[in-house]
Amino acid sequence: MQQKKYFLFISLFFSLMANAQTKLYTEKYRPQFHFSPASNWCNDPNGLVYNKGVYHLFYQHNPFANIWGHMTWAHATTKDLIHWKHLPIAIPEENGVMIFSGTCVVDKNNTSGFGKNGKVPMVAVYTGHIENINQSQHIAYSLDDGITWTKYANNPVLDLHKKDFRDPKIFWHEQKKYWVLALMFPVEHIMQLYSSKNLKEWNHLSDFGPAGDTSGVWECPDLTQVPVEGMPGKKKWLLQTSQNATMQYFVGEFDGVKFTNENPADKIYRPDYGPDYYAAIAYNQLPATVLPTSIGWVNNWNYANDIPTTPWKSAMALPRTLSVKKENGEWILIQKPIAPVTSLRKKIFQTQSESVENKKVLAVKSKQFEMEVTLEPSASSVSGVKIAVGENNYFEIGYNTAQQLFYIDRSKSGNTSFNENFKKMHRFEKTIALKNKKLQLHIYFDNSIAEVFVNGGEAAFTAQIFPDEKDNGIELFSEGGKSTFSNLSLWQMKPVW
Ligand code: FRU
Repeated sequence: MQQKKYFLFISLFFSLMANAQTKLYTEKYRPQFHFSPASNWCNDPNGLVYNKGVYHLFYQHNPFANIWGHMTWAHATTKDLIHWKHLPIAIPEENGVMIFSGTCVVDKNNTSGFGKNGKVPMVAVYTGHIENINQSQHIAYSLDDGITWTKYANNPVLDLHKKDFRDPKIFWHEQKKYWVLALMFPVEHIMQLYSSKNLKEWNHLSDFGPAGDTSGVWECPDLTQVPVEGMPGKKKWLLQTSQNATMQYFVGEFDGVKFTNENPADKIYRPDYGPDYYAAIAYNQLPATVLPTSIGWVNNWNYANDIPTTPWKSAMALPRTLSVKKENGEWILIQKPIAPVTSLRKKIFQTQSESVENKKVLAVKSKQFEMEVTLEPSASSVSGVKIAVGENNYFEIGYNTAQQLFYIDRSKSGNTSFNENFKKMHRFEKTIALKNKKLQLHIYFDNSIAEVFVNGGEAAFTAQIFPDEKDNGIELFSEGGKSTFSNLSLWQMKPVW
């Protein structure tokens, strides 16, 4: 009898859990193939590291509410960068010290001395934040592959008694045989570099900046080595920084001491030209067969707390592989959604070639899809694709041929009134030249997140939109001339939750 009761209780518990899980992740606007926390607030990805076949994602999280606050490292893992498993909170806020952004490494040689009885420590470096008073760098370690963490007793390990000094990115430098740490003087627009043999004592190496975009405080540096397209074995160093609500990148060399930018100093290069891509960092310690891969936060500090989603707020962009290529004397970042995303493709809709004047409504309707298409726009047209089309709403992805201007426009995309800044920030453009008179478009749409990659990842645009329930139409359009859309493929995408 006792046993029966126990089983009844267990099965009730599991069916409740399953039910809760189904209800979560079916809410209005909920992304189906992007990572988002089950509930409550999230911002920057932290501590991206690969260990024993598992990719870890820690992230800025408020365990208590669906707005920013009580910053804590939450934790999720995946084996394919697509299907995620939520794990218990990793590093909580404590004694008035919030756990701000940072990174993580597997300390295989136990340089830190935290390893015990042959157990390899994972070491996290993060900014300890005391509101309005101090930001300093702290470490914590885990001896059970990232599940439970112990804060180092002698924290902080790097304290310049500054109010703004944050977001450490660490990695191992093989030639110099030391750990390198990159972090920001946000207000001064300076990235500082330090080295350490044991992750506890840090020596200043050099500074980079101010440079490029200095319109907002600099945050979340990410310095990582990436391959050069078409030149097997050749690599360059990519530095990505985040400032206020956008990101920029520099490409050059890092000799273990100093980073040197090789792109023209007077030009700003962005990994994403949309409004909702921020704080991206690359994975540490990936196997040699995996391309450098980064994850960015999908939201924007100008309205982040007000987006109309509940019980969660914010998501992560699809993980992107990183490489560079040289074109006209400039290093260009190439970003591609990681290959395993294709495993989510379901039904396919295809057309060979469509000549469009005004508009062509596609027979397929979806708010959860991937689409590839080659656009050959007429010389006089404004042409492209409208998604999330409803009676009054749509999100426009277009190209103005005469102005050589690519754009996304969310001014009529549904709910835009929850925040004035969101309403204002509706159109995003970049000059992009046609190649052989054509433009390659690769679009992912996931209920409230659109990620658009142009010309094989030479430019990316990420934007949130909040369409009405029935806004699921897809249209090709060409105004002011006839444009050709060829090799169109559209796949509905399976949910990962
Ligand atoms: C970037 C950022 C970081 C900081 C964290 C706090 O989005 O402002 O500079 O560490 O978020 O949540």
